[in-house]
Amino acid sequence: MSSNNTLRLAPSILSADFARLGEEVRAIEAAGCDLVHFDVMDNHYVPNLTIGPLVCEAIRPHVSIPIDVHLMVEPVDAIIPLFAKAGANIITFHPEASKHVDRSLSMIRELGCKAGLVLNPATSLEWLDHVMDKLDMVLLMSVNPGFGGQKFIPSTLAKLRQVRARIDAHKAAGGQDIWLEVDGGVKTDNIHEIVQAGADTCVAGSAVFGAPDADGGYRGVMQALRRAAHPS
Ligand code: DX5
Ligand code: ZN
Repeated sequence: MSSNNTLRLAPSILSADFARLGEEVRAIEAAGCDLVHFDVMDNHYVPNLTIGPLVCEAIRPHVSIPIDVHLMVEPVDAIIPLFAKAGANIITFHPEASKHVDRSLSMIRELGCKAGLVLNPATSLEWLDHVMDKLDMVLLMSVNPGFGGQKFIPSTLAKLRQVRARIDAHKAAGGQDIWLEVDGGVKTDNIHEIVQAGADTCVAGSAVFGAPDADGGYRGVMQALRRAAHPS
């Protein structure tokens, strides 16, 4: 279980209107989100192609909240400095896409960003074993990466509990804080069990950008997610 009621909401701009991206990121910040989740796909590590450092640089002046860059690219090392330069604050990557995971994590921190590993639904937690001190975030995929709008995979809940226990044990032994983020299929009807299982940061793409204006738009869905996560 998460040790307090911290919940960071990170709308994924994958589901935003790309023709109006500056306006879209301003709107989600005004609506009360905590991070901008920025999905980078390369048509190699995942079968889809999205946005790169130029787009990160373009949206940077439009928001003051951190930009959370999720790299679904292989290899990862050459692109990391470009995102750091483009204004990313958090950079996460999939360990199987890097030949030298420890080196890639160190590089992200040396460039002044927070570093994290992303684990797919079938990826083992053993990747965390020897790099806990190099992590600022663990991101658990609750769908297979590549597309927005997929259904949450329920076995993620058990995996979340295991990572929460690892992080809490690491902190109890004097280690640094590590955020635990979940990505894929997060909605108002499952966010409660997701935070109960230990997540403190939730990505939500289609749930946020598909929110009907009649329900209060982005602000309405953000409030609904927070209420559903921690019903009083
Ligand atoms: C999937 C991406 C996710 C996705 C989330 O590869 O990493 O960030 O866009 O979208 P939803 O919330 O619609 O599942
Ligand atoms: Zn993502």
